[in-house]
Amino acid sequence: MQRIFSGIQPTGIPQLGNYLGAIRNWVALQADHECIFCLVDMHALTVWQEPEALRQQTLRQTAVLLAAGIDPNAHILFNQSAVSAHARLGWIFNCVSRLGWLNRMTQFKDKAGKDRENHSAGLYVYPNLMAADILAYKATRVPVGDDQRQHLELANDIAQKFNHDYGVDFFPPIEPLVPPAAARIMSLRDGTKKMSKSDPSAQSRIEMTDDADTIALKIRRAKTDPEPLPSDPAGLQDRPEARNLVDIYAVLAGIPVAEVLARHGGEGFGPFKAALTDVLVQAIVPIADETRRLMDAPDHLRAVLRDGATRAAAIAEPIVCEAERLVGF
Ligand code: ADP
Ligand code: NA
Repeated sequence: MQRIFSGIQPTGIPQLGNYLGAIRNWVALQADHECIFCLVDMHALTVWQEPEALRQQTLRQTAVLLAAGIDPNAHILFNQSAVSAHARLGWIFNCVSRLGWLNRMTQFKDKAGKDRENHSAGLYVYPNLMAADILAYKATRVPVGDDQRQHLELANDIAQKFNHDYGVDFFPPIEPLVPPAAARIMSLRDGTKKMSKSDPSAQSRIEMTDDADTIALKIRRAKTDPEPLPSDPAGLQDRPEARNLVDIYAVLAGIPVAEVLARHGGEGFGPFKAALTDVLVQAIVPIADETRRLMDAPDHLRAVLRDGATRAAAIAEPIVCEAERLVGF
C-alpha cells in the first residue's frame, strides 16, 4: 500500500472549498492507502497566530476532520509540532535547499507581495519544511491542489540533492496526487476569487460549522446576475457567479454540470438557490453537528492527536535518525 502524507493548516474555520477540494478527497483515499494526516501548526506559525486561537483551531480542525470521516485508528491524525522529526529534518533541508530555488517559489511572491522585508523567515523557508513533512515518512504520494505542485517539485529537488551529496539512495521520489476534476470553489461574493477561510467577509464562504439557517441565508445573498440559468454549460461562460453555484451543486450532487443545467436550465436563481441550499444542508449540517459534539469533548480530541503523534513518531524517528547520521550528527 502506498503511503500518503497530507497536511492542512489549522487556521480559521474550514470552509466548503477545503472540504470539496481536500478533506473529502482525504476521506476517499483512506480506502486504499496508508494515510498520514497532519495539522501543520508549524506552517501556520509562519504568519502571526494568537496562541490560544491556534490551540483552539487545531482542536476544531481535528473535530471537522473526524466529523467528515477521517478514521484516526486505521490511519494517523496528529499535529506537526508534536513530532520533533519535522523540525529536525526541516533544518537539514534548510541546509540542502538553495536560496535560488526558494526565490523561484511563486507562492511566497504572492503572499509576501511588495512588502517582502516584513515577512517571517519561516514563510520563506516553508517549502523546505514541507519537504521534510513528507520525506520524514518517505511518503511517495501527496494529494495536493495545483497551487502546491511547485513545492512538490522543490521537495523532489531537495531529496535528489540530499541523495547525491551524501552518496546514498535514501529519499524516494514523490508523486503529486492531483484529485480528479479538482473542484475549485469560488467566493459567494465574487466569482473570480477562490473561496477562502482568510477572506475578510464570512458571507463569502460556507463554513463547515454553519447551521441550516446560516447556509440558507448565505446562499440567498450569494451574488448572481439577472439572467435565468442557461440550459447548457456553454451558457455559463463569462458568468462566474452562476458557474460557481452550478459547480457546487454538481459536485455535491455527484452529477455533471450538463445534467444540473438539463434539470434547472431556464429557472431563475430563486428556485435554483433553494435547491442548492437543500443539497448543501444535506452535506454540511451533519458534519457541523458532529463537529460541535466533538468540540464539547476537547480531552478526547487531544487524546486522538497524542495517539496520532506517537504513531507518527514511530515511523519518522528511524528515518530522521538515519538522515542525521548520514549528514554527520
Ligand atoms: P484557505 O484558502 O481556505 O486558507 P488553504 O490554502 O489552507 O485554504 O488550503 C487547504 C486545502 O484546501 C488545499 O488542499 C487547497 O487546495 C484546498 N482549497 C482551499 N480553498 C479551496 C477552494 N476554494 N476550492 C477548492 N479547494 C480549495
Ligand atoms: Na490559505
